[in-house]
Amino acid sequence: MNDSRVLRADLLSFDADPGEDDTPAAGSVRHITDGALWIEDGRIRALDRFERLFPKLPEGIEVIDHRGKVITPGFIDSHVHYVQLEIMASYGRRLLDWLNDYTFPQECRFAVHEHARALSNAFLDEMLRVGTTTAQVFCSSHPVSVDAFFTACGQRDLRMLAGKVLMDRHAPDALCDDTHGGIRDTERLIGDWHGKGRLGYSLTPRFAPTSTRAQLDATGGLVRNDPSLWLQTHLAETTDELDWVAELFPGSRDYLEVYEQSGLVGPRSTFAHGIHLDQEMRGRLAARRANLAFCPSSNLFLGSGLFDRLAAREAGLAISYASDVGGGTDLSGLATLKAAYQVGQLRGQPLTAWQGFYGLTLGNARALSLDERIGRLATGMEADLVVLDPAATPLMARRTARSRSLAETLFAMMMLGDDRTVAETWAAGRRVHRRA
Ligand code: GUN
Ligand code: ZN
Repeated sequence: MNDSRVLRADLLSFDADPGEDDTPAAGSVRHITDGALWIEDGRIRALDRFERLFPKLPEGIEVIDHRGKVITPGFIDSHVHYVQLEIMASYGRRLLDWLNDYTFPQECRFAVHEHARALSNAFLDEMLRVGTTTAQVFCSSHPVSVDAFFTACGQRDLRMLAGKVLMDRHAPDALCDDTHGGIRDTERLIGDWHGKGRLGYSLTPRFAPTSTRAQLDATGGLVRNDPSLWLQTHLAETTDELDWVAELFPGSRDYLEVYEQSGLVGPRSTFAHGIHLDQEMRGRLAARRANLAFCPSSNLFLGSGLFDRLAAREAGLAISYASDVGGGTDLSGLATLKAAYQVGQLRGQPLTAWQGFYGLTLGNARALSLDERIGRLATGMEADLVVLDPAATPLMARRTARSRSLAETLFAMMMLGDDRTVAETWAAGRRVHRRA
């Protein structure tokens, strides 16, 4: 027997980048009012207006009525640290102090399997509560933190990317790996997890200051051996970090070249932050089809700077949207869009709701090379979905009752929304969260 059901609601999905104008580019948005989404065996079987699809459905099929709500593809978070969940909102420091005072001591705890298992599940509960069904995730430097995380994701049949942090210097001993031991552990984890179910391995050198050249080069060797691997790291988040990298790598003309020289810049590479770059560096990233993860709530919280989204666009450089918890202050993709909008306001770069919702769904799926599987509502795509309630709170109900267009409703959700806006989250065709 097929596992089959229909969700009835407004359906919203993107087929292309809507552009920067208030009106989305022709053919970029599909909005079906009173739609029906037929899901079967973990995938989308069909979608259409309810009245058109209903006569074609098998008799007696379960219809879940979400009229008044909006279904979009599940949100994607391109950069987040599950091991930092419990140090979110730690007061008042810039990046390098914050790492030493809060982050590194916390990550030391993930050497213990039971702790890693408990926090993996707590993190996934929180992600699903805010409608995020896929993320690219930093674990800690302990292999057991990766085993625990992928096990928890597999049990829920989530599409997730993650990796063991590689760091062989400039951190507490309990966190540093051995240059080649870290690579051997990574190879073991790739063998156990990459391509297993919906899981993918992302090579994870933390950032240039915490890896020796030998470790970065060895990581580049893994990329060359297997181009199906993802890679995630940090780049040019703060000016102090830039100065430190210049000191540590005198043979590189800039921060990006440190990664280029080790062969770490490619179409499956995500560089978090990328605030302090010039246009020539953006061009080099674009030429290699890498992407920058825009982490607005983290950039504001740590005072790192205002990301120049339109400069990246001008360079033809893909960006993705990310929470960067625990530097980020919120796991919610809606909250990330709100912070991105605020950063944009300070830069004279307004972010439309079209661009924002495209970013969280198809845009991030494309940046992560996952767009053949997730990020759109279309036949054959994996059924990872979020059911959004524009009237989730009395205030939102008041606001959205006055909306004159879908764009206004989406924008109100992006500015006022949080976990309460997420009525349900579905992954691989199964409900994995329902708002209490
Ligand atoms: N740079 C190196 N490590 C980190 C981290 O854990 N968080 C952030 N925001 N930046 C980093
Ligand atoms: Zn980060």
